[in-house]
Amino acid sequence: MQHFWQSPGAKPPPRIARAAGVFVWDTEGNRYLDATSGPVAVNLGHGNRCVLEAMRKQADQACFAYPSYFESEDNLLLGDLLAQQAGPGFDRTFLVSGGAEAVEKCVEFARLHAVATGASSRYQVISRHPAFHGSTLACQGLSEDPHNSPLAPMLPRWPKVPVPFSYRPAAGLDGEADATRCAEALRETILAQGPNTVLAFILEPVMGLSGGANYAPPAYYRRIREICSEFGVLLIFDEVMSGAGRTGRFLAAHWWDEARPDLVVLGKGLGSGYFPLGGFMASAAMAQVVVENGGFHLGHTYKANPLACSVGLAVLRETLEQDLPARAAQSGDYLRARLLELQKDFPIIGDVRGMGLFNAIEFVADPGTKAMFPREWDIAKELSQLALQEGLLIYARRTFGGRFGDWLMMTPPLIVSKAEVDELVERLGATLSRYQQQLHRAGHKT
Ligand SMILES: Cc1ncc(COP(=O)(O)O)c(C=O)c1O
Repeated sequence: MQHFWQSPGAKPPPRIARAAGVFVWDTEGNRYLDATSGPVAVNLGHGNRCVLEAMRKQADQACFAYPSYFESEDNLLLGDLLAQQAGPGFDRTFLVSGGAEAVEKCVEFARLHAVATGASSRYQVISRHPAFHGSTLACQGLSEDPHNSPLAPMLPRWPKVPVPFSYRPAAGLDGEADATRCAEALRETILAQGPNTVLAFILEPVMGLSGGANYAPPAYYRRIREICSEFGVLLIFDEVMSGAGRTGRFLAAHWWDEARPDLVVLGKGLGSGYFPLGGFMASAAMAQVVVENGGFHLGHTYKANPLACSVGLAVLRETLEQDLPARAAQSGDYLRARLLELQKDFPIIGDVRGMGLFNAIEFVADPGTKAMFPREWDIAKELSQLALQEGLLIYARRTFGGRFGDWLMMTPPLIVSKAEVDELVERLGATLSRYQQQLHRAGHKT
């Protein structure tokens, strides 16, 4: 039977049999290297014994307990360990079951904080365009271009500001100048909306699918921090993809010390794909204000679920014991160096970028002019299909119909070895060769 989301006639994906480390096997015995950790989630790699053991142990004790009635030991331990890793200003974690839920709860928390501090006129959340903050209606409102979505009438219409793209700065500007332009657009937008209506500014500090690992020069983060502080706007980093060690530090925020956000959202790598888990972090002082003003009721059945907390705790302990952020920094340098070598053979790779193991390659029809491929070719999707034939799993998802460019994430599990990086690059090369042959057969020159 076909799933309802598959287009009629589409080839069904392979069926999964098992997974271990950076590899996944289908039921026909084919082995695939997971080049993107699923949708940038499986930070620890598949089949980690310590996580499985913690899961089993907790499942034997109790799979479910509602936090209003029972506290779970691992929830407390996970909260403490997260606070230790995130550092000052992030003493409290509120756990839910995924990234979008965590983004929504974080925004709700920001609003409750504003109300508790006498700023109840503040309700607007400025985000960037493009962005991706999740698939619930509110998150789509923060993400999508409302004019292009069939859901447009249902989405919150909050203001958007532009993103500084390192590979494609605005015409006539270099990367630094474009970043300044984009930061000042935030200031202008706050002023235009009326500063006392603006609650928060949310961004992915290193972009996921909506920007292909794009990030800005340090001055950008400093400036948006200054602007938010100037107007009492809360700065939220959505680190659902970039957090939990992927960029080479526990939080991407740790790369820009003087630009710390007020709130941070985590997901994906927090549970590493072993169990649904997301959350947001706030300071004890902010939490105290909200609690004293009537509290914060997360109200989700699976909030701080004991099984999820045990998994989260085991994942974080493994992350630290295996020193995965540092390994991600090192393997990421190696991966980007290898991808830059591949670029020499395949000029359709226009850009290689990223931090740690949060990387992407952007494709261009003409590297000289950076001209994009025709949008209807949907090259990232095409390549991910061809990659399957080369035993390479790539998560390709296109936001905004490719308007901002076509890229593939290069985000293997943080445990990836040097030999596995070599294998990834070799299989990617074979995939690109197949694609070029396909283009030549169709009479294209690229
Ligand atoms: C930056 C970012 N925020 C939020 C989400 C939503 O997370 P989830 O799919 O767990 O709801 C995603 C998912 O890709 C994401 O990349």
